[in-house]
Amino acid sequence: MKKQVLITGGTGYIGSHTAVEFIEAGYEVLIIDNLSNSKIDSLDGIEKITGTKPEFAQFDLTDKLKLNDFFEAHPNIEAIIHFAAYKAVGESVAKPMMYYQNNLGSLMNLLEMTKKYKTKSFVFSSSCTVYGEPEELPVKENSPVQEATSPYGNTKQIAEEIIRDFMKVEQDLKSIALRYFNPVGAHESAEIGELPLGVPNNLVPFITQTAIGIRKELSVFGFDYDTPDGTCIRDYIHVVDLAKAHVIATERLLNNKNKSNYEMFNLGTGTGNSVLEVIKSFEKMSKQKLNYKLVDRRPGDVVKVYSDTEFANNELGWKTEKNLDDMMLSAWNWENNLKNK
Ligand code: WQD
Repeated sequence: MKKQVLITGGTGYIGSHTAVEFIEAGYEVLIIDNLSNSKIDSLDGIEKITGTKPEFAQFDLTDKLKLNDFFEAHPNIEAIIHFAAYKAVGESVAKPMMYYQNNLGSLMNLLEMTKKYKTKSFVFSSSCTVYGEPEELPVKENSPVQEATSPYGNTKQIAEEIIRDFMKVEQDLKSIALRYFNPVGAHESAEIGELPLGVPNNLVPFITQTAIGIRKELSVFGFDYDTPDGTCIRDYIHVVDLAKAHVIATERLLNNKNKSNYEMFNLGTGTGNSVLEVIKSFEKMSKQKLNYKLVDRRPGDVVKVYSDTEFANNELGWKTEKNLDDMMLSAWNWENNLKNK
């Protein structure tokens, strides 16, 4: 009997890549997603890669009755990976209540299910955004959490605190929060990848859509920052490396290897790259010039952030394997495959 893992938001970008890794690690994957920011086609992509189409239920995690019915029908879920959340920084500024209700309501409903159905492992999708503009670099897990610069970022901080307080009273569950840096790229098969609905907020999908002709040109937000080439620095991590970390974190908890019942790990490469360095890597891997222009800064942008990977490498036993060129090539292959779909 395969162990059952529930992946919420599993038809999304990181969720679908994580579903592939769990299936390939021998788990039975169940997915709940409301398809508000992803397409059901992801299930076909997962099946093409693994030969298995995960069981899928389409509903909103804020619907407590539907969620309870789902758990009634699936009482043997051993582990939950919780991705489902709204994640657009700009949109969260315009619609804060929608973000708090959705992102925190979903989390609290799920945590109640873990209590009622004795789930053993809960892995939460958090973000380096909790560190704001770090006082010191590289960022460690105990680096100070700064005041959030958006309601989106604040929902991640509050979520971590809700889990912390829940774990103080809930002894049967074990939890890990994974703080992602900047996930980019796609599975080597190009069957799944990032699928921004509408105009992309994030850098890499905007680059690939510009290169393939969907967008006219990329605007580089700010070129006068205090960095070597004047553009912002981020820790870009390949989405497959990120996905693999979720299997490792879950098995840490299922095998009782955790040191406390609530742990946090940074998931990054430890290397910072500027926007211009990302563009250069993309041009090298795609063998084509990118049309871009240098424009004003984007309000709210952090100047430099990249991770200290020591704790995740040593304690979690996880290390990234793919570099920036791999990320750019896989993102470009995915964009080309999308065009042919
Ligand atoms: C990266 C760099 C931009 C677009 C956010 C969230 C984070 C996570 C990922 C959800 C910055 C520059 C971007 C463009 C540009 N969100 N840029 N032109 O802001 O680091 O992180 O998205 O999971 O939690 O905070 O990512 O890709 O938007 O920006 O110059 O058209 O690229 O200024 O320096 P960010 P990003």
